[in-house]
This record gives sequence, C-alpha cells and structure tokens, in this order.
Amino acid sequence: MVCRLDAGRKVLEPCSIIIFGASGDLTARKLIPALYHLYKEKQMPEAFRVIGFARREKTDAAWRGELRAALDQFSRTKPVDDQVWQEFSQQISYCEGDLNDAAAYRSLETRLASFGSEPLHRNLLFYLATSPSQFGQIVEQVHRAGLLQKDGGRGWQRVVIEKPFGHDLESARQLNRELTRYAHEQQVFRIDHYLGKETVQNILMFRFSNAVFERLWNRESIDHFQITVSEKLGVGQRGGYYEEAGALRDMVQNHLLQVLSLVAMEPPVSLDAESIRDEKVKLLKSIRLLSPEDIARQVVRGQYVAGTVAGEPRPGYRQEPKVKPDSNVETYVALKLLIDNWRWSGVPFFLRTGKNLPLSTSEVRVQFRPTPHVLFAAQCGPKLDPNALTLRLQPNEGISLRFNGKVPGASLTVRPVRMHFSYDAEFGAYTPEAYERLLLEAMAGDATLFIRRDEVETAWQIVDGIRKAWDGNPLSNREFYAAGTWGPVAADDLLASGGHVWREPLVVS
Ligand code: BG6
Repeated sequence: MVCRLDAGRKVLEPCSIIIFGASGDLTARKLIPALYHLYKEKQMPEAFRVIGFARREKTDAAWRGELRAALDQFSRTKPVDDQVWQEFSQQISYCEGDLNDAAAYRSLETRLASFGSEPLHRNLLFYLATSPSQFGQIVEQVHRAGLLQKDGGRGWQRVVIEKPFGHDLESARQLNRELTRYAHEQQVFRIDHYLGKETVQNILMFRFSNAVFERLWNRESIDHFQITVSEKLGVGQRGGYYEEAGALRDMVQNHLLQVLSLVAMEPPVSLDAESIRDEKVKLLKSIRLLSPEDIARQVVRGQYVAGTVAGEPRPGYRQEPKVKPDSNVETYVALKLLIDNWRWSGVPFFLRTGKNLPLSTSEVRVQFRPTPHVLFAAQCGPKLDPNALTLRLQPNEGISLRFNGKVPGASLTVRPVRMHFSYDAEFGAYTPEAYERLLLEAMAGDATLFIRRDEVETAWQIVDGIRKAWDGNPLSNREFYAAGTWGPVAADDLLASGGHVWREPLVVS
C-alpha cells in the first residue's frame, strides 16, 4: 500500500515571492532554479510573481538575462526548456532599492498593487537571502510599508530566513526578538536546507514505518552512531564568510544537529509541524552540555594545510583568499555527544564534518552492538564485525545493511556482506533539490521542515561553549590535516579512546 502523508499535492494560493538579496549567489544558484523546476513540474500556484529586490540598477530584462545564464549553469535538468523559461520568466521582475530606504519599500508596495489581484498583492513570501545583519531592518521596513501584518490583515505573509541565524545564542535571541516584533513565530520560516533533502526527510519515515529497526533503535542494541558530512571542496572564494563562521557554526550548529535530532528523537504524537518540532527540541535539550574538560576530551577541531584532493593540488586554508595568514578558524570538527535520556543513555553520537576531505558524502552510520558470544571464535577470531546500518543521505542516496554471512565452501569462514537499497534504482533518478521542497512548503505555510525559535536557540547553546573554549587558543600541530585526508589525527584518537574507529563512508555505485 502506498500512503501519502500530504494526501497528494497541496493546493497553493496565488502569491508573490519577494527575494531580498536578489543579486546574490543563492538567488542565482538555488532559488531561481528551484522555482523554475516547480513551475516546470506544475507545482507553482496558478498565479504567482517573483520580485527581486536589490540595490544595483537593472531592468527586468537584464535581470532575467542574468538568471537565465545562471540557470543554464546550475539547473539540475539540462538543457533548460526554452518555452518553459519564457513563460516562467514573464512572472519575474526586478525592484531596485536600498534596504534602509523606506521609499524603496513603498515602490515595492506599488509594484505589488499593480498586479491587480488581491492575492498577488496580499499573499507575500519574503525571502531574506541577504547578510544576516540586514534581516531585522528588512522585516521592520516591510512592516512599516504595510506589507507584513502581524495581527491578521488580508491574505498571509511569511518571512523565510536563510542561515546563519545569528552567530551565537545571544545574537540568535536578539534576532528572534527583532523578527517577532513584526511577525508572529508562525510567520517565520528559518531555513536549514538539509531538512529539504529527500533522504533527510526519509529518516523519520524509515524509523517510524519499519518495526524491525525501530525495535532496535535504543541503547540495548546500538553501540554508537557516526554522522559524517564531508566535503571535497575547500572554502574557495568564501574565505571572508568562513573566517567569521568556521565549521562549527557553518555545519555543526545547524545541519549536523538537525540530522542528529531526526535520528534520535522520540516518535511525535502526530505529523503536524509543532509535534515534530516539539520532539526535536526535546532531543536537543537532552544533549549533555559540555564542560571545558569535556570539550578538551570530546571535541576535535582541525584546519587543512596544502595537499591533494582527487589528484588536484589544494592550497592550505591560510593561503585561501580573504583568510588571515595566521587564522585559527576550524575547517574540520569531530565531536562526541551524549544524550541524557532513557533511550540513549551511554550511547555515543560521533559527528564529523570538514572541508577538503577525500569524499563529498553525508551519511548516518548506526553501529549495532556485537553478538554477546562468538560461536565461530576458533575460525574467525574473538571478534566478529558487528552489524551496521548506513543511511546514505548523499550522494547515491539509499540505505545499506551490513551483516555477516558464510563464505561458500567447506571451511567455516564468516565475513561481512551488504544489502543496498538505492533511491535511483527503486524510484528512478528524480531527486528534487532541497530548495524546491522548502519553497513549496513555505508557500503552503507548512513549517515542519523549518527551524523553530526554541530549536535554533537550543542548538546554539550546545555549540556556544565549544566556541568559547577555542577562542584565543591557537591550533596545535595535531589539529592540522593535509587536504585530501580524513582530518587531523586527534579525530582518530577521539574514537580510539572508546575502542572505536571512524568507518570510511560508503560509496555505492
Ligand atoms: C552550507 C554551508 O550550509 O552547506 C557550506 O554554508 C556547505 O559551507 C554546504 O558547503 C553543504 O551543503 P550540501 O547540500 O552541499 O551538503
């Protein structure tokens, strides 16, 4: 039986999408390609408009031209369908203005009114793809221009916020206060694009629709988890941003903790946004906060030095553009977290992420406990490889199970074998981009895949102590790693102290 959670496609009301930061990378690489694909697949509302808001002077035609060129480069389906683009791009226009200039917001209002349709004028999705320091003022200005109503009003208005959401707990709280001055929490959609990935969404489906695994999903059966998000690329042209962020803020505070919360949370009472987010917050709150001593033992940072990734020479982080030559910013983090609750007491969750690693891959490896007794010790030695389940989030999305099998023949030899499930093989190669799903959900007003206020604040609380412990502490020799290796040696020590090893991520072709 096939069961659909959303009872089929959501019927979307006509709306206008206003993108602040329209000249930026995100708009060209992700947002417009996502909207184009939604349009192509007939998932956009019957009537819609897209307005790009930015400072540079530009005509509608010039902006459309730029977007088309970017689409040719970044579209997930190629070539771009000319006819679809022609129709779609007629709905796109450009509004020039300074973000602090009230008059610019008034002309935005005039533009919206000129659409001559109440829903296109009143159902508004504000997408904030600007620098975070501008979020507060944009929301205030759209409110002052009468475009964002907190208490009712006609139509609906929603604010979609890109990460980084603050740089620590205090700044996140401050930002939350600024936003909720002009919008209700229910109108604020905080993005973590990992939640838009099909395979990340599948974590809950997999866990709560398969009794065979959920029964084992606890401290009795699971020895530990390894959550890996590795990237082959270095920081490239993003040195300026990265110097402020580092891997802890860029990846751990959001993507890795989100994946962890889905993997470890309790079943929600229902599938509505608040029930799911309640459970995620509860889980995040159960993560044991680390003392300075714990941080020294349980958290490893690293920074890449020059090396080779897949045969290509790479500079060291300190040699990247806009990076200080003596920077101590981390490009790698590995950490062990413990969850103080009934289900997970004593089970370590090892998380790691880094740039310039040998593979670009994201996976969750569930390492089960070994058998209590090894019957084949005489033939295979005292230890059998324990069972493992790997949720392959990207690429080659799927799930693999490793168990032991007998090697055919007269001798009693046992060795690990694997069963692989692959999305492509089962469902064909349809993998929508995360932003397609997220934009769709934001237009539909479903906040399940977005981060709630208390969620973002709790996540900052977990990483803030680590940041503080590192600040002002220069990197030591053991914290550097050559580009193209799996991180600093200290990361291996982190697991070795508990008798574990990092498993190389699975590559399934
Ligand atoms: C972003 C980070 O949020 O996620 C980037 O800012 C990182 O540094 C990216 O490269 C990884 O996302 P994905 O979807 O490529 O795994």
